[in-house]
Amino acid sequence: MTLSFGREYLAIPGPSVTPDRVLNAMHRTAPNIYEGALVDMVAAMVPDLRRVARTKSDVAIYIANGHGAWEAAAMNVLAPGDKALVLATGRFAALWGMICERIGVAVEVIDFGKSDALDPEAVRARLAQDKVGEIKAVLTVQVDTATGVLNDIAALRAAIDAAGHDALLMVDCIASLGCDLFEMDAWGVDVMVAASQKGLMTPPGLGFVFANEKAQARRNPSVSFYWDWTNRMRPELFYQYFGGTAPTHHLLGLRAALDMIFEEGMEAVWHRHDVLARTAWAAFDAWGQGGPMEINIKEPARRSRAVTALKLGDDHGARLRRWVETNGGVTLGIGLGMSAPGYPNGEGFFRLGHMGHINAHMILGALGVIEAGLIALDIPHGTGALSAAAGVVSQG
Ligand SMILES: Cc1ncc(COP(=O)(O)O)c(C=O)c1O
Repeated sequence: MTLSFGREYLAIPGPSVTPDRVLNAMHRTAPNIYEGALVDMVAAMVPDLRRVARTKSDVAIYIANGHGAWEAAAMNVLAPGDKALVLATGRFAALWGMICERIGVAVEVIDFGKSDALDPEAVRARLAQDKVGEIKAVLTVQVDTATGVLNDIAALRAAIDAAGHDALLMVDCIASLGCDLFEMDAWGVDVMVAASQKGLMTPPGLGFVFANEKAQARRNPSVSFYWDWTNRMRPELFYQYFGGTAPTHHLLGLRAALDMIFEEGMEAVWHRHDVLARTAWAAFDAWGQGGPMEINIKEPARRSRAVTALKLGDDHGARLRRWVETNGGVTLGIGLGMSAPGYPNGEGFFRLGHMGHINAHMILGALGVIEAGLIALDIPHGTGALSAAAGVVSQG
């Protein structure tokens, strides 16, 4: 006997829920890729992508997931023998660093652990030692999807400037774009990497690399043809803009997603994510009062509005995930890259994705099912979580 039939909620932190409007926009035969409506649509889409990233910079669109966009960004500005400073706050910046190593870049990692944000002062101090400008780029994530941390990118830029260092600032916004406040130009980000499948509400398959003039001026002349962003920054070339056949259906879906974002308004999108994240935190805090549940990132200001990672201990995270999926139709995220004694595969953790096409009833519904799971599995927890969550929603 299960209560999971009905519309499921994929509450993993990406891919996120695809809106029907995006799916419907993709449900057609392929359009002409050389002239006509699709070409016009892409020309108009580029300024809209800039609006989401809050930048005047050019954007290259790759038929790729986030890993492809990472490699594209790295290949365009880093050459074998260059050095990159990677600021790790969980899993994803370190993986980006590994990709850099594979193309011959010397990678130095500052590891801030799995439950803290990066410390700008540590970055300033390291860069200040680099008198000869050996470090060509500083790489990090705005949000680490494994830990749920939100790094302070404006403070990171201030730290690089305070060190008087000329390295490029390269930021992964794959989990955060369209969810957490981000200002590429105002915060002085030189290269920003994003992907379609999270806040942009489009199926996985599009990777974006935004690059300002400083980054474009540092283009690695030996970048491979496919990743080279030169033609990909010129939408009027169209066929070459995509390095070949355009990703027709993803573009149609993305157009619908961008329309939804602008109809709501960028500030309203950020506000919705903020309120719904705080809704979930209110419930998690209340459950934690009477049991083992803990939000992985303690300081609310350093928590992502797109994803929250939770610690539940033993194998409670894995048990809870199985229960809510089987009995409630809600799929929670695994405890990615987390471990505890006796539980090496993140069994004691889970994550709630609250990114993209989500609203109050989805989050309150997911929280209600999680509470049912805690009761059914006899996992100790505090009371009043659902009314605390409803209270946050009621304040809007
Ligand atoms: C912050 C972040 N960066 C990079 C990636 C890698 O993206 P992909 O799995 O699409 O290659 C992910 C995936 O979840 C992510 O969350």
